[in-house]
Amino acid sequence: MHVTVYSTRPYDRQALESAPGVSVHSFSFLEARLDADTVATAAGADAVCAFVNDQLDRKVLQGLKGLGVRLVVLRCAGFNQVDLVAAHELGIAVGRVPEYSPYAVAEHTLALLLTLNRKIHRAHARVREGNFALDGLLGFDVHGRTIGVVGTGRIGETFCKLMTGFGCTLLAFDPTPNPACVAMGVQYVPLPELLARSDVVSLHCPLTPQTHHLINATAFAGMKRGAMLLNTSRGAVIDTQAAIDALKARQLGSLGLDVYEEEAGLFFRDLSGAGIQDDVFARLLTFPNVVVTGHQGFFTEDALAAIASTTLANLDAFAATGQPMYPVAP
Ligand code: NAI
Repeated sequence: MHVTVYSTRPYDRQALESAPGVSVHSFSFLEARLDADTVATAAGADAVCAFVNDQLDRKVLQGLKGLGVRLVVLRCAGFNQVDLVAAHELGIAVGRVPEYSPYAVAEHTLALLLTLNRKIHRAHARVREGNFALDGLLGFDVHGRTIGVVGTGRIGETFCKLMTGFGCTLLAFDPTPNPACVAMGVQYVPLPELLARSDVVSLHCPLTPQTHHLINATAFAGMKRGAMLLNTSRGAVIDTQAAIDALKARQLGSLGLDVYEEEAGLFFRDLSGAGIQDDVFARLLTFPNVVVTGHQGFFTEDALAAIASTTLANLDAFAATGQPMYPVAP
């Protein structure tokens, strides 16, 4: 099959080209995002390979259908960027990478937690300037604290496992409790109770209509004063303006983000010479108690290799059976 790969960065190309079985398919690698403006570039492709910020709404899917594209393979686990109903109606199959490395994202979440708590970002900058004063760098022992995990699927479970090593009390909220988490002593409670009791709240749920702005002004008001919030799931699970208000009021103690609701125009690109146009995002960056990474939770060697091999398995399965190995249905 011929596959047009969107939002390609050198590491994506390297991973796909060095994965076993690649010679069966041919690839066109494009840096551009897939959206209504770029959909015509899929001409001649049997399949398109897309990432988190490509836009696969009805209009784009209709464009793909018109060009003869029969398959969308996502290089990610989340599929909120795809109109699955439209894809189904148009007869375009959608495949994803359901599991590549829950460790990559869970470990990155832990990195955000420890960075914010021990102010490593500030300490690093200070030490490089010859400033060894400790004022403003005070942290707390993670041991003995209460950690609230929202969404205990693959990544949430792995994060819980890591936190048990610190000797924390673990609370969770998930409509479908995970027996492995129960077995490790995680206590499932309603969301308001989790927010009220947790010193650190970490989000690991998918973005759905139910989780859109799950953490809004009401949720912030119900959190323990001065708590830390971590989000490595999807940006729109948090109402960013409400987060800024909570930070200004010092109701929210610190915020660690790997995702942002309007990240599509920002992340995965070098904008250092262009400046940031998004004033809400720019305001976030002014807080000393906010650490933002640009959707890099997945970005480990192990995860990239697993994403590439599952993507090829999806293509192989579709070529053989008409269905990707890991299909997503509406
Ligand atoms: P998963 O499907 O294994 O787990 C998701 C869990 O969230 C499930 O247990 C589900 O029951 C729960 N959930 C669903 N609705 C909920 C709600 N309203 N409230 C609380 N929990 C709810 O997914 P996985 O692999 O653990 O990934 C979680 C999310 O992490 C993905 O959907 C994706 O958005 C994000 N992600 C971020 C990456 C990054 O690079 N930062 C990389 C990979 C995934």
